[in-house]
Amino acid sequence: MENLLNGIEEVLLMGPGPSAVSDEVYAALSRKTLGHLDPYFIKIMDAIKVQLQTVLETENVLTMPLSGTGSAGMEAVFVNLIEPGDAVLILKNGVFGLRMAEVANRLGAAVEVLEFEWGTPVLVEAVKEQLAGKTYKLVAVVHAETSTGVCNPVAEIGALLKGSATLYLVDAVTSLGGMEVAMDKWGIDALYSGSQKCLSCPPGLAPVSFSQRAVETILGRRRKVPNWYLDMSLIAGYWEGKSRAYHHTAPINMLYGLYQALFLLLQEGPAAVYRRHREMHELLVSGLEKMGLEMLVDASCRLPMLNAVKIPTGVDDAAVRRRLLHDYKIEIGAGLGPLAGQIWRLGLMGHTARSENVERLLAALQEIL
Ligand SMILES: Cc1ncc(COP(=O)(O)O)c(C=O)c1O
Repeated sequence: MENLLNGIEEVLLMGPGPSAVSDEVYAALSRKTLGHLDPYFIKIMDAIKVQLQTVLETENVLTMPLSGTGSAGMEAVFVNLIEPGDAVLILKNGVFGLRMAEVANRLGAAVEVLEFEWGTPVLVEAVKEQLAGKTYKLVAVVHAETSTGVCNPVAEIGALLKGSATLYLVDAVTSLGGMEVAMDKWGIDALYSGSQKCLSCPPGLAPVSFSQRAVETILGRRRKVPNWYLDMSLIAGYWEGKSRAYHHTAPINMLYGLYQALFLLLQEGPAAVYRRHREMHELLVSGLEKMGLEMLVDASCRLPMLNAVKIPTGVDDAAVRRRLLHDYKIEIGAGLGPLAGQIWRLGLMGHTARSENVERLLAALQEIL
C-alpha cells in the first residue's frame, strides 16, 4: 500500500504563510504525547503563557494559545466581547479587515466599516474624525494586512482611543514574532495571532490575549457567549488556577511546537529577530528593484515579513508561481481579491527570513523572468 507521506518533498515556504519550520520545532512536535492534565504538561502550558506575555509585551493574565488557526482567534475575540446590537467599527484595507466585519456581522453587531484603499494604510486622521462623531463599543484593525503587505498604524490608533471606554482589538496574525507588538503600551484590549507566520510553527494554534478591561467586559455580559468551544470563561478554567478543569483535549504536540518556537524566538532575542526580518526585507527589496520589479506599497508603510511585488505586464502570474514550485521548490503567494493577478506576495516570516532563502528566491526569479 502506498504511503502518501513518503512523497512529501521539502518546499521553501516564501508565501503568506505557513512559513518554514525549524528542525528544533519539528523535533519538539515529535516528543512523546503527555496527558492533557499531566502535571508536567501543565508546567509547559504555564511556561507558554509567560513566553506569550513576553513577546506581546503585556501583563495580561488572560493570555494563551487557543486550539485553532488565526481565524479561530479572530472568532474568539469577537464572540467573547460582542453582543447583538453593539456598535463596532472595523478599519478595513484588505481581506482580513473584511473577514473581521463578516465575523462581527454574524454576531448581530451594529457594524460600521471605515474603508481605505488596498495597498495603502489606515489613515489616523480619518479614524479620529470617525471617532469624534460616535461612541463605539469596539474598534478593530489588522496590524499586518497579509493581503496587501501594508503595516497599519496600530500604536497611533491606540493613542486615539486611550482614556475612552472603547475596546481596542488588533489582529496580529502576521505581525507577531516579526515586528514589535507592544500590547500594553499601545492600549490594545484584545489581540489574536496564529502559529504559522512569524512564529514559524505549523498552523493550528491561535495565541490570544485580553486586557483586564476586556476580561471585565466578558464577565459583565448580558448573555452567555454563543459559541461554547471559544468561550474564554470556560477555556480559562483549563489554562488558569490550581484546579485545571477539562474543557477540550488540548493539542498537546502542537503546544510543544509552539513552546519550542517561542523558546527560539526569546533565545535569539525579540529585538534581534525583528532586526533580522527588517534586514532580510531590505535585501529582498533591493534585489527585486535591481531586476526592475516594483513594490506595491510605499516604503513608509511596508511590512518586513510580507512583500507585495507588482507582476510585470505581460508576465503570466500562475506560470511563474508554478515554475517556482515545480522547478525550484519555492512557494510564493498570489494576490487576493482586487489584487489577484496583479501582485505576488513574498513572505519572509520567522525561520524563512534568512539570507540564503532571499538569495535563492531572487536567483530563481531572475532565471524565470
Ligand atoms: C492578518 C490575518 N488575519 C487572519 C488570518 C487567518 O488566519 P488562519 O488562516 O490561520 O485562520 C490570516 C491568515 O493568513 C491573516 O494573515
